[in-house]
Amino acid sequence: MICTVLTLFYIVLKTMSSNKERTFIMIKPDGVQRGLVGRIIKRFESKGFKLVALKFMWPSEELLKKHYADLASRPFFPGLVKYMSSGPVVPMVWEGLNVVKTGRFMLGATDPKDSNPGTIRGDLCIQVGRNIVHGSDSVEAANKEIDLWFTPKEVVSWTPASETWIYEN
Ligand code: RTP
Ligand code: MG
Repeated sequence: MICTVLTLFYIVLKTMSSNKERTFIMIKPDGVQRGLVGRIIKRFESKGFKLVALKFMWPSEELLKKHYADLASRPFFPGLVKYMSSGPVVPMVWEGLNVVKTGRFMLGATDPKDSNPGTIRGDLCIQVGRNIVHGSDSVEAANKEIDLWFTPKEVVSWTPASETWIYEN
């Protein structure tokens, strides 16, 4: 009996801490204006990550100040808030094994001049102040950002038909 409970607990814990990890990815106003929404979404879809939330909205300065609160003391902060509130964005939640870390690799370095070719920023943009996409930098930050941008009902749990072809367990 105890063995069964422990096995079930292990399975639940493993599922929660691995394949079900979530990150917050947002296409910034320049990514939207430049018509890169489909290409950026395609990179995450093709990789095998699962889209669990997405919307199209014009964010307020108030929301962006909360989102980038950690950077409030940086000299570029006012410009960052102005840039990010200059047009519509596409906030999304993506789910999968190590999605936070892998998502950051897929985005590339913050400054596109240091982003490797093959990464989204490395391939599609040039300047740090116009780097087209945001990605959470830790699981903790991801959870905070998801709560800031989405209500629980807007995040959808579902099982893609391809799941067993992406994960062996
Ligand atoms: P993000 O949060 O947007 O995914 O970017 P990140 O983690 O790679 O970099 P972070 O340090 O969090 O910076 C947030 C955004 O601020 C702008 N930035 N401008 N002018 C500058 O020196 C400078 N440094 C950062 C970028 O848009 C960066 O993505
Ligand atoms: Mg950041």
